[in-house]
Parts: sequence; C-alpha cells; structure tokens
Amino acid sequence: MNSKSLTLAALLGLSSFSLPAAAPRMPKTNLATHDVGGNGCRSCHAPHNGSLANGGTQSTGAILMWSRSFPASANTFLVYDSATMANKAVELGGTALSASTDARMYSLLCLSCHDGVTSSFSPSMQTVNQVGSKAGTALSLGLSNDHPVNMPHDPTRNTSLQAVATVTASLPLYGSNNTVQCGSCHEPHNNGNTRFLRQANNAAGCTTCHL
Ligand code: HEC
Ligand code: HEC
Ligand code: HEC
Ligand code: HEC
Repeated sequence: MNSKSLTLAALLGLSSFSLPAAAPRMPKTNLATHDVGGNGCRSCHAPHNGSLANGGTQSTGAILMWSRSFPASANTFLVYDSATMANKAVELGGTALSASTDARMYSLLCLSCHDGVTSSFSPSMQTVNQVGSKAGTALSLGLSNDHPVNMPHDPTRNTSLQAVATVTASLPLYGSNNTVQCGSCHEPHNNGNTRFLRQANNAAGCTTCHL
C-alpha cells in the first residue's frame, strides 16, 4: 500500500481498508533434495560473485542473486493447451529472462535445473523430475503434458475457477494479470508437504483454484 492510498483511505474514513492478503510464506527450513550436492542455499543463490563459479553470469546474479544460468533464451518448452482452456498458457521460453519483474521467472528459475537438459547434479536428476524436457530424454513432451503455467487465473473467462482473492489467501499468483507459475504450487525451500508443494498433495491442493 502506498502513502497515497493510505491518505485516501483515511480521508474516506475507511478504517478497515486493506488489500488482498499476500499468500502466506513458508519457512526455509526443509531444503531436502534441493540441498544440491550439499551446497545449501548456494545451490541456487550466490551471496557474491559465486554465480560465475556455479555456471551463472553477472546478469543472472542480478535476479535473486541466482547462481546458475537461466534456460537458453532460444529454448522453447511448449506449454499445455486444449480446446476447453479459456485462460490460454503462453510459451515460457524463446525470450531471455532479464528482469525480476518478469512473472515468468517463477517458472524459468525452476527450469534452470528441471529442463531435462541441465545435468550437472550429483547424484543426477531422476527422469521423473525432468518435467521440462522434450520427447526423447524423459517422460515428458516439454511442458505440453504438464499442468499449464504462464496463463492468467481469470474466473471471468472460466467460471469454474475460484475467485482470485480465495486463491491468493493460500497460493501466490504472479504479475499484474495474476498468472499461474511453478511457484504457485511449489515452494523450493520447503519439502514439508513432499514434492516441494505449498499445500498437501491431495485434491484440496487443486480445489484451491478449481471449483
Ligand atoms: C533449489 C533452489 C533454491 C535453493 C536451494 C534456495 N532457494 Fe531461495 N529461492 C529460490 C527460488 C526459485 C526463489 C524465487 C521463488 C520463491 O520466492 O519462492 C527463491 C527466493 C528466495 C528469496 C526471496 C523470496 C523470499 O522467499 O524471501 C530469498 C530471501 C531466498 N530465496 C533465500 C534462500 C535461502 C536463505 C536459502 C537456503 C536456506 C535458499 N533461498 C535456498 C530457489 C532456491
Ligand atoms: C494456482 C491455481 C491452480 C491450481 C493450484 C491448480 N490449477 Fe489447474 N488450472 C488453473 C488455471 C488458471 C487453469 C486454466 C483454466 C482455464 O482457464 O480454462 C488450469 C487448468 C487445468 C486443467 C486443464 C483444463 C482444460 O480445459 O484443458 C486441468 C486438467 C487442471 N487444471 C487440473 C488441475 C489439477 C488436477 C490440480 C491439482 C493437482 C490443479 N489443476 C491445480 C489453475 C490452477
Ligand atoms: C539447483 C537446481 C534446482 C533448482 C533451481 C530447482 N530444483 Fe527442484 N530439484 C533439483 C534436484 C537436483 C532434485 C532432485 C532430483 C532427483 O533426485 O532426481 C530436485 C527435486 C525436485 C522435486 C522432487 C522432490 C522430491 O522430494 O521428490 C520437485 C517437486 C522440485 N524439485 C521442484 C522444483 C521447483 C518447482 C523449482 C522452482 C521453484 C525447483 N525445483 C528448482 C534441482 C533444482
Ligand atoms: C497446478 C499446480 C502445479 C504447477 C503449476 C506445477 N506443479 Fe509440479 N507438481 C504438482 C503436484 C501436485 C505434484 C505432485 C504429483 C504427484 O505426486 O504425482 C508435482 C510434482 C512435481 C515434480 C516431481 C515429479 C513428479 O512428476 O511428480 C517436479 C519436479 C515438479 N512438479 C516441477 C514443476 C515445475 C518445474 C513446474 C513449472 C514448470 C511445476 N512443477 C508446476 C503441482 C504443480
């Protein structure tokens, strides 16, 4: 909330004026398999120029001090589509990730390891976890057989979706048009629910968004 809206709220006498609640934060307490090679937080973040040591560049270090390369900008991932989709997913790759205001980062950061191409892990990543890989290497067809990402959660286009405020009370939607990204369902710092999920791995995890 900026000072202008505060002043306006005060002028209008709106004592209970508030914005929709941000999704609750989970503690960074259970890295489990994300403690890659025993590197702890440095598996993904570089406190200093370590981004270079871990395969990143000066520019990746400028986004969340990311310690790795982002997926090559030429890479496309082929997002899910179907005749019944109202909020169509938009291709994630194809253009470089260059700013932390780009909502795609909440998927592309994950794909800097889960693209099925990146393989510098010890022990190496199991096939089932290479969700972004295309036919040939893994169980996957890029992201075209995975839950869609990089589309707005807009109940006015699809009335079987929950209200935005209902979703964001529990799960984050990203950017000004409330997009779903990997980070909407997953929290990379906490494996307490298994599969790094923000909610338990059951139907309620889906009905937060789907009526
Ligand atoms: C497997 C990769 C990975 C590891 C390991 C990791 N992070 Fe992150 N971190 C991310 C990603 C992806 C984001 C952006 C998405 C998000 O905020 O959930 C992020 C965001 C953050 C942020 C900014 C947003 C926030 O939640 O406050 C902080 C601070 C942070 N990480 C600190 C840490 C610390 C401290 C550790 C070690 C305990 C750690 N990270 C380990 C991937 C990782
Ligand atoms: C963060 C919100 C969110 C969560 C959580 C979520 N979904 Fe979705 N899902 C969406 C949105 C938004 C769409 C696009 C729907 C549209 O506009 O047609 C979608 C699309 C789908 C589709 C494609 C529908 C079609 O018409 O082809 C299926 C199937 C689906 N979700 C199943 C699930 C399942 C199963 C879960 C739980 C594992 C789940 N969703 C969790 C938001 C979510
Ligand atoms: C530094 C590389 C890296 C990044 C970045 C990263 N992961 Fe992972 N992730 C791994 C590795 C390595 C494993 C373990 C794979 C294995 O054992 O096959 C893993 C495992 C997982 C698993 C399976 C966990 C389990 O216990 O079965 C999930 C789910 C997952 N990651 C989701 C994500 C999501 C979502 C993001 C982004 C928010 C992300 N990861 C970012 C490297 C990474
Ligand atoms: C709509 C919610 C949702 C979104 C969006 C989503 N996931 Fe998942 N993901 C899940 C659920 C639920 C599971 C657990 C599936 C199971 O237990 O079979 C899972 C499992 C995984 C696994 C473990 C392997 C597997 O298939 O069980 C990985 C790795 C993973 N997700 C990565 C990602 C990445 C990377 C993205 C973004 C490109 C992403 N997820 C987007 C809900 C989601």
